[in-house]
Amino acid sequence: MKNIFLFFSLLLFMCACVQNKTYTALDPENFVSTKDGKETALFTLKNDNGMVAQFTNYGARLVSLYVPDRDGNFQDVTWGYETIEDYFNSTDIYCGPIVGRYGNRINKGKFSLNGKDYQLTLNNNGNHLHGGTQGFECKVWDTEYVSKPGNDVLKMSYYAKDGEEGYPGDLDISVYYSLTDDNALKIEYQATSKDTTIINPTSHAYFNLAGTSDVTILNHVLKINASNFTPTDQSLIPTGEIRKLTGSPLDFRQPTAIGKRIDTQCEALIYGQGYDHNYILDKKNKQITEAAVIYSPESGIEMSVLTDQPALQFYSGNFMDGTLTGKYGDVHNYRTGFALEAQNYPDAPNHDHFPSAILNPGETYTQTTIYKFGVKE
Ligand code: BGC
Repeated sequence: MKNIFLFFSLLLFMCACVQNKTYTALDPENFVSTKDGKETALFTLKNDNGMVAQFTNYGARLVSLYVPDRDGNFQDVTWGYETIEDYFNSTDIYCGPIVGRYGNRINKGKFSLNGKDYQLTLNNNGNHLHGGTQGFECKVWDTEYVSKPGNDVLKMSYYAKDGEEGYPGDLDISVYYSLTDDNALKIEYQATSKDTTIINPTSHAYFNLAGTSDVTILNHVLKINASNFTPTDQSLIPTGEIRKLTGSPLDFRQPTAIGKRIDTQCEALIYGQGYDHNYILDKKNKQITEAAVIYSPESGIEMSVLTDQPALQFYSGNFMDGTLTGKYGDVHNYRTGFALEAQNYPDAPNHDHFPSAILNPGETYTQTTIYKFGVKE
């Protein structure tokens, strides 16, 4: 009798644990290693409301992000791994890093600058994606906490040499991460180059606002402030056309559940195997404006993306196949995470009517992108 009582008590306790996954901050010891002779580590930022963000300098990555849900419980809303070894083994999905030198795709890795042709490394169906085979996400960035007015700031810097992955010009890039007291993760970029080059860095954080990656993101309700997008060919390279979204299942100007139209049989959704598209934001200048708002009915967590960039890549995790397991044992399954990447248009160096991605010596590239969190009842 006593044994049966113990058995049922244990069962009840296990069920309670499964229902209320307790998210605890990661162990910094698991991030201590070396790569290319440089030390890796885990870094933490906090704000006055208890929000916590963790990063590793391997790829300037966001590792975890704890934000309050509608009941005031903190949920980890970003994908990541529990050890640096896991990151070393999972570079191809770009989990949380700053990607570059050119985030997104460049047609056949070719472009010309000042009359000279360049060939970048090819790592995606004969095209160049996210900076190539050893892009910024594989590098160990120099990292320090710096004091700026307001909250703590984490400064991560990388010096990309002329010729790296085929790009011209020694490039000095710094990314400043901070958590503000209005519950926003702010990412500011600055870069200069010794020679003329091209640049388009972006944060490749995956999110699941339900607070667990065990469920798909198809219930998330998304709004994107874009009236146009850049259609692509089958390998997701822009054709050069700028097309209106009116009447298309890609139009998110009215808040809509991601899953509602994702399997519509139209060319764009077939090519992307779901959403994997560049949205041209409705804006005229480099002001920071709201690009998107996304909400999880499960947790009540709402995230707004604000940026000074001209475009936003919305990727609904269509190429996830469940082979990788992230934090808390959550399997990275098909469409269980999404990315909203603020950036220039893909393949801009090959289209004169797309915004310029050129950085000249003496100029400073800047970008500000903010992921701001709140709750909806
Ligand atoms: C791209 C996807 C790609 C994914 C992972 C996204 O930014 O748009 O096509 O599969 O990154 O590399």
